[in-house]
Amino acid sequence: MKLTSEEKNKLISAKDENEWYSICEDIKSHRNGLYPNDLAREILSIYQNKFPVNKYPAWEELKLDLINRKSFLSWLSIGWMAFAAATGGFFTIIIRFLFPNVLFEPPQSFKIGYPDDFESGKVDLRFKKQYNVWIVRDEEKIIALSTVCTHLGCTPNWLETERKFKCPCHGSGFRSSGINFEGPAPRPLERYKISLANDGQILVDKTKSFKYEKGEWNRKESYFKV
Ligand code: FES
Repeated sequence: MKLTSEEKNKLISAKDENEWYSICEDIKSHRNGLYPNDLAREILSIYQNKFPVNKYPAWEELKLDLINRKSFLSWLSIGWMAFAAATGGFFTIIIRFLFPNVLFEPPQSFKIGYPDDFESGKVDLRFKKQYNVWIVRDEEKIIALSTVCTHLGCTPNWLETERKFKCPCHGSGFRSSGINFEGPAPRPLERYKISLANDGQILVDKTKSFKYEKGEWNRKESYFKV
């Protein structure tokens, strides 16, 4: 038996669920306390329209709870990520502290070949890049010159046609002997200790340098006699 239009209107205008259920009880009482199937279906469809599931306070609470839980979990994961990053950074610092960067410098003492490998009157540039020295040979001797400008430490260039070292920074000029003759450099280039090793090669030792202005170019270790 279907709902009468009066029953239907009553259900549709029920103010809340309490009223809804009392109307339902009333409907039931007029049918020997039973809902036939098609009646139950009709009542259910009105009920679902009137009280959609997502309007249940309990559902709202559950949704809120889920959202809170979700945001809690995302905060938790952000927290974990921050913790992992901080821990990683800390251990990186510790590892860097335990194993500091090692600066590999070229050896201060090195062999450059045999005396005959160097031509008289020539400035040999082969060792400039790796060892910061020029090897200069003249009629009497071979010297190892420092490539550091005595003005402010730039590296001059050897100009073959002009037969001079010219500093690109402030224009100081040096002869092939290392003597300064132009620009602001206050003193000649320094020379390094040079000698003959047991195997007949020339050995340069940068731990020992010689300054012209101190009269050190007269020392035997400051040149190799050929
Ligand atoms: S650094 Fe060489 S001239 Fe100034």
